Amino acid sequence: MNLHGKVISGYQVLGEINLAKDYPNTQYISSIANPTDRVIRRKIWDKIKKLGLHFATLVHPSVIVYKDVIIKEGCVVNASCVLGSNVILEENVHLAYACNIAHETKICAHSTLGTGVNLSSGILIGEDCYIGAGVSATHDVVIEDDTLVAVGSAVVDNLRTNGQHMWIGVPAITIKEYMRNKLKK
Ligand SMILES: CC(C)(COP(=O)(O)OP(=O)(O)OC[C@H]1O[C@@H](n2cnc3c(N)ncnc32)[C@H](O)[C@@H]1OP(=O)(O)O)[C@@H](O)C(=O)NCCC(=O)NCCS
Repeated sequence: MNLHGKVISGYQVLGEINLAKDYPNTQYISSIANPTDRVIRRKIWDKIKKLGLHFATLVHPSVIVYKDVIIKEGCVVNASCVLGSNVILEENVHLAYACNIAHETKICAHSTLGTGVNLSSGILIGEDCYIGAGVSATHDVVIEDDTLVAVGSAVVDNLRTNGQHMWIGVPAITIKEYMRNKLKK
């Protein structure tokens, strides 16, 4: 669908990403995320960067930011999030509303957290991950690059991809295992 020139929520659609070069003094924001095409945020980032342009970093005024938090270029932190001390958000991380990120947790570039995700302390989330709405994770776990954690799941152990990119349930198991268990019932 060609939206070029249309007005959406009071804002005119100026065109596709490649036209960004016509607006060199503008900063960009990407709100796009897709659980099944998790590299989409990285692709948009790469396109904008190739044009020599920069991203804004947006933190809603209601966000509570504790001491020594690092929020890098292109991050979007929506309303009511809490970032504990020493949290690191690498480039282009997107946090939807009301995510609670406890201290010493790091989220790597281009990853997305849905609404109301609760992360305990000392967690490492890799690049290009999609953590579904309402997911909870216990302390000190590692979620490897390019992982999808389905909505409402509970992460109680490291999620090593090993070719398994989708994890689901309480506690979170691979989709393969989840489907096998379902068939047994
Ligand atoms: C994992 C996910 C991508 C699967 O979506 P999907 O491929 O469209 O899957 P479907 O909804 O068709 O469901 C397929 C099956 O898995 C089950 N299922 C899907 N998500 C599930 C979940 N989180 N927990 C348990 N079962 C789930 C469905 O009940 C369905 O079972 P059935 O085949 O017996 O009917 C989706 O559940 C998800 O987590 N999306 C992220 C949404 C989100 O967090 N958005 C953020 C907004 S801020």
